[in-house]
Amino acid sequence: MKFIHVTDPHLITPGELLHSLDPQKRFSACIQSINEREADAEIVVITGDLADRGQLSAYRALHRELKRLVLPYHLLIGNHDNRANFLSIFHDAWVDDYGFVQGILPTAAGRFLFLDTVQPGQSAGIYCSKRCQWLERALSDSAREQVFLFMHHPPFDVNIPFLDRIGLENKQDFIDVIAGHNNIRHLFFGHVHRPISGSWRGIPFSTLTSTNHQVVLDMKGTAPVNYWNEAPTYGVVLLHPHHTIVHTFPYLDNEPLPV
Ligand SMILES: [Fe+2]
Repeated sequence: MKFIHVTDPHLITPGELLHSLDPQKRFSACIQSINEREADAEIVVITGDLADRGQLSAYRALHRELKRLVLPYHLLIGNHDNRANFLSIFHDAWVDDYGFVQGILPTAAGRFLFLDTVQPGQSAGIYCSKRCQWLERALSDSAREQVFLFMHHPPFDVNIPFLDRIGLENKQDFIDVIAGHNNIRHLFFGHVHRPISGSWRGIPFSTLTSTNHQVVLDMKGTAPVNYWNEAPTYGVVLLHPHHTIVHTFPYLDNEPLPV
């Protein structure tokens, strides 16, 4: 199974700039590239920060852009999103019994679990007791399946102080829920605006640059700015029964070279 991972488009009111870049133009180019190159994928998953300030105009713009996408899509929210505004535009988005933007997608490769780590008004994420209950049940119900987790905030530090200050607040609660579930094949997340991969507690993970601005690779916390310009990418993910491959494609920053 092949799917596409996109993250952190940070759309704003069309025509405005964010960190001197045009989020809508760059997201639109991403959609165009996916349509041209990856139309045989099954789904596009966007792991949050859909709108930079949670504004309705940004969600309307996102809705319009996604109408151009030739693939089905699934949206998660991030700390820059506004849950109510998002749901007022995306009426068919999945919500759990408590109103969180969470759901389970059965696929040929296994179950995709989409999680909501947002705490309104805060940059840091949280996975509260209600959401932990939901995830416990989802994992129990998926015990015979391969499971793929999707969330905005990573449940661990990435050794960039600017990001680790706004990570998931209650990491141990999350760890307690997933402990013992050995069928979690991969964790996909957003939030960090950097290409990072590795493994955490035995679970392979990957994330990507934003379609707009990137976070400076600063592990000492001394950089004069937090954001810089670096190629936006999307991920092309291939899920096989015994292995997973994650390609990242810099859709604005490539050109053929002469022989
Ligand atoms: Fe973001």
